[in-house]
Parts: sequence; structure tokens; C-alpha cells
Amino acid sequence: MCGIVGVTGNDNAVKILLNGLEKLEYRGYDSAGIYVNDQKGQDYLVKTKGRISELRSKVTPDVHGSTGIGHTRWATHGVVSVANAHPHFSNDDRFYLVHNGVIDNFQELKAKYLSDVPFRSQTDTEVVVQLIDKFAIEDNLDAKAAFLKTLSLLKGSSYAFLMMDREQPDTLFVAKNKSPLLIGVGDGFNVVCSDALAMLKETHNFLELMDGEVVTITPDKVAIQDADGNAVERKPFHVDMNADETDKGTYPFYMLKEVDEQPNVMRKLAQTYLSEHGEPQIDDKLIAAMEAADRLYIVGAGTSYHAGLVGKRLFENLAHIPTEVHVSSEFAYEQPMLSKKPFFIFLTQSGETADSREVLVNVNDAGYPSLTITNVQNSTLSREATYTLLLHAGPEIAVASTKAYTAQIALEAILAKALGEATGQIVAQNFNIRQQLGLVATGMQAIVDEKDTLEQLSNDYLMKSNKAFYIGRGIDHAVSLEAALKLKEISYVQAEGFASGELKHGTIALIEKGTPVIGFITQAKTAGLTRSNLQETMARGAKTLTIVRESLAIEGDNLILPDVDEMLMPLLSVVPAQLLAYYTSLNKGLDVDKPRNLAKSVTVE
Ligand code: F6R
Repeated sequence: MCGIVGVTGNDNAVKILLNGLEKLEYRGYDSAGIYVNDQKGQDYLVKTKGRISELRSKVTPDVHGSTGIGHTRWATHGVVSVANAHPHFSNDDRFYLVHNGVIDNFQELKAKYLSDVPFRSQTDTEVVVQLIDKFAIEDNLDAKAAFLKTLSLLKGSSYAFLMMDREQPDTLFVAKNKSPLLIGVGDGFNVVCSDALAMLKETHNFLELMDGEVVTITPDKVAIQDADGNAVERKPFHVDMNADETDKGTYPFYMLKEVDEQPNVMRKLAQTYLSEHGEPQIDDKLIAAMEAADRLYIVGAGTSYHAGLVGKRLFENLAHIPTEVHVSSEFAYEQPMLSKKPFFIFLTQSGETADSREVLVNVNDAGYPSLTITNVQNSTLSREATYTLLLHAGPEIAVASTKAYTAQIALEAILAKALGEATGQIVAQNFNIRQQLGLVATGMQAIVDEKDTLEQLSNDYLMKSNKAFYIGRGIDHAVSLEAALKLKEISYVQAEGFASGELKHGTIALIEKGTPVIGFITQAKTAGLTRSNLQETMARGAKTLTIVRESLAIEGDNLILPDVDEMLMPLLSVVPAQLLAYYTSLNKGLDVDKPRNLAKSVTVE
């Protein structure tokens, strides 16, 4: 869960590396470093604890070069320190290496081959670079052969490496297994990156790499070799994204920008997946594969799992197909009994989450059909599933997911409508998805325009408490889980999302004078019950706040949401919760976009 960049053949290497690392900070931000070489015998290594801004301040004007590698780290092996920051280098200063992922057998390799080698860091990466050096010297191998020999010894669930050799200073050596890594093709130069976002200022043409391949990159050549040593020809694909989309413009934080973008994301999804008359435009083969299934299994982690909980209701109501939702890290190792004809839906904003990918690997081994719903074109889970639907939400940079969650739900609704129509469900036929998404977009706009009210509510309810509850029933409960996660991850308030009727079975003991309890009331069937449950907490001193659908509102409710179809109310009710979390984090002076201990793309299991 780190970010990797590289460049060869460009005199602006330092600038390209630093700009690229800044774009990859979402992948990790506890330490960072670059190594550059100017091809004339000068090279520089700069490493630091902290963010890329710290690294920038340490890169003095004399640091220059045309080939280099860089890394932003999210610690897995070893504490956060300069010594553990990448690039790591061999003791004779010949090889420099950056790495994303985990090498499971690094201790064994260290004991077996490197017992006489002094180490500077506690990382698995340093073991790899020292091994490369050892094989180069002892077996008289060139850099690529030593790299290949080392790779053949590694055991790791996922990794990506980018290496330089001072004896071939214009060459980058690349290898990956499961971890994302792309090569960007420039005019007279080439780049490497964990995510195309990092290099959009340099190129829009990227080559994807397959597991097991080793690539040698010079300024004018990208030589790909497969696991059997054969040369591979591959055409670049075009990334159709504007570099400006990755900037936050005048917004103080990406999260606020991304919350504000949600109405447009709804419109974009309607434009992409619905005809003018509102008919879903989804690949017939995908619908046929889903129709053939006797049960849907939605798999995801964190926010994506929460979007799956809402999806269950959509698929069961609109398409009448039994649907289960699973946390990927659990499913991967405790697979439940499956139905006879399962169909898997992977929800993943990044398309790279290792836990979800582990499930997909098993699903593919078993030969079951699958769909990945993701925001990232060509991501690992997208490539490896049978079908892909893209969220078209634009890059989501803030660690706390917002627009990807609502995009996932909206796309699930479109898909459920398409499936329900295919199977002749009356509910689906009567569900005017185009009109509903239009209402949702307008409703979202009305909520994001109420920022002052939400900041005030955050002040009144959340700023002074170190705990909070979000409660609701049915899909209101599903939104409670997401609301609590948002508050926890960026404001560090201990928050619980709870099924409101379940509180009285134990957890209500935690309610004391002033505990904030926020109730979602958007479903007619359960509105009265949730209100009673809120009363029960008030009787124990809770400070309650209601987020209520207009047609269910009564006097005294705090936040009134515009009415849309009940099944789509989560698309609106989550927005105030996103903003409550945002303002609580902001007014506590925290880094909203980069909360502690977290990174955006979780590529370790
Ligand atoms: C929370 C958040 C995470 C992700 C989770 C899965 O705001 O973003 O909970 O949802 O790490 O990531 P993806 O969706 O990329 O698989």
C-alpha cells in the first residue's frame, strides 16, 4: 500500500517524480524518498519521514537527473523512519529499489543468504535489494539476471518493484505480482507509476503489466519479457482523463470537492447507462449471466461493503433475486456455502483491494461468473472479473470514500432495474430510474448547499463528544454503518452504526448524558419504530438528531431530506453524514483527506 513512480530520459526527472508522488500520496503518506541519476556520474538519494511536502523541502536545488525512482510509504514492515523509507540500496551503493507490497519469506531469505550482510533498515525491501546485489557479485550476473534470480525466490501475496542499477543509469527494471504498476509512454522518455493519475501531466498512453513479467525500460524502449523469457509486444491503452480532474482547485480538501461532485456523478451515470427514455443500456451478456444465477453474492470492503448492503435491497426488490453481501476479508478465508449457480459482484472503488481480489481469485478458480463495479478502468479486479461496469465518478483522492459510495449504489440500482426488466418484474417496470436519478441529483444539490447548517450541527452535536451513534432500520441501518465509518475514519470519534431496534438488547448501556445519537428515518415501514428507539436513548440522556425524509417528517426534526423512491433514499441520507464527518474533522484541525493510519488503496491482506 505504497506509491511508486519512475522516469527515464527526462531532464525534469526530479519534478516529475515529486509531482507524481504527490498524486500518489493517497496510497500512503508516512515517509517518502527519491533517487535520481544524471548519467554523468552524479546521483542523489533524498528520504524523509512525513509527507511529500517534507520531501520537497529536503530536495535542494542541486539535486538533478534524468532517470530516477520515487516512493511514498505506508509502513508494513518496520516503523516509520528515514532508514525504513524507500528507495533502499545495496551496501555497495550499486542497486536502488522501491517496492509496494509484502514479501512473506524475507526473514528466511535473510537468514539463508545474507547472514553476513549488515542491514540499515527493518524492511523486507532491503533484503530484496541486498539479495540482488549478492547474486550480481557472487554469480557474476548482470542486473536483470540478478533481479530475475531474486524474484524467483520471493513468496508474497502481492508486490511491485522498480529498480535502478548505477552501472546502467538510464535503465529502469520493473516487476510485479498482483500489485498495480503501469508504464507510461512519453515522447523520448518513459515513466512508471502505481496509478495513471500520477503521470497524466506527462502522458495519456500507458502499458499494463502482467504478473510474472519483467520489464526493462530505457528512454526510447520498453522491453517486456514474460515469465518464460519470451519478448512480449503490447500496445499502450489511452487514459481518457484530464490531469486537472486530479487537482482540488479552490477546495480546501478533496473530500469536500468529491462530496460536491455527487449530483454530477448521478447525472453522468444516467447518461452513460440509460437511454433517453430511461431504458438501461447494459451489456446483454452480463444480464443473461446474472439471469442464469440463482443467487447474487456481493463482495466488498469498508464503504464498498456498505454500498453492497443497499444493493441487496435493490436486487431483491427490483429483480427478485436472493442476494447476500459479504465482507471480502472474511469471505476469502471462511467461504459460506454457495448456491448452485452463484454470480459474484465485486464492489471496489480502486479495483485493487487485496482482500476482494483474494475472493475473486477463488471465484475464478471455481469457474463462477463475476462482475466488478469499479471506478478504475483496467484495475486488477476489473481485468480479472468476467464483466466490468465503471462508476465514472472521476478520480476519488480523499481517503474517505464519498462519491464512489453513492455511484456504486446508483449503478446497482440501474443494474437491478435492467435485471428486473429482463426477468419481467413489475416493480422494475414501474421504477423510473432516469427520473429518480434526476430527483436524487437535485436532492443532493439541495443538501450540499446546506453546508452552514451541517457545520453548525457538527459543532452542536459532535465536536464535544468522543463517541456517537448512528441508528436506523433496514437500509437506514446500512447507511448508519457508512455514516459511522465516515465519522470514525476522519474525525477519530468512536462511532457506531447500529440497528436501532437492537440497541435495547445491550448497547443502550453506553448511552449517557449528552451522547449524540443520530437517527435515519427514511423508510415508511420503520419510521415509527426508529422514532421510539430514539426516544429510548433520549430517556437515558442522549442528545438526538434526526435525518428524515420529507414525507415522514414531523415537527422538531432536524434535517429534512427531499423525497425520492424509498430504495434510493440512502443516496440522499448519506450526504449530511459525509458533511457532518467532514466538518468535525476540519474543525478539530485534522487532515481531512489523509487520516492517520489509513491509505486509500489497501493492497495488502
Ligand atoms: C472508507 C473507505 C474504505 C474503502 C475500502 C475498500 O472511506 O474508502 O473503507 O471502501 O478500503 O476499498 P475499495 O472500494 O477500493 O475496494
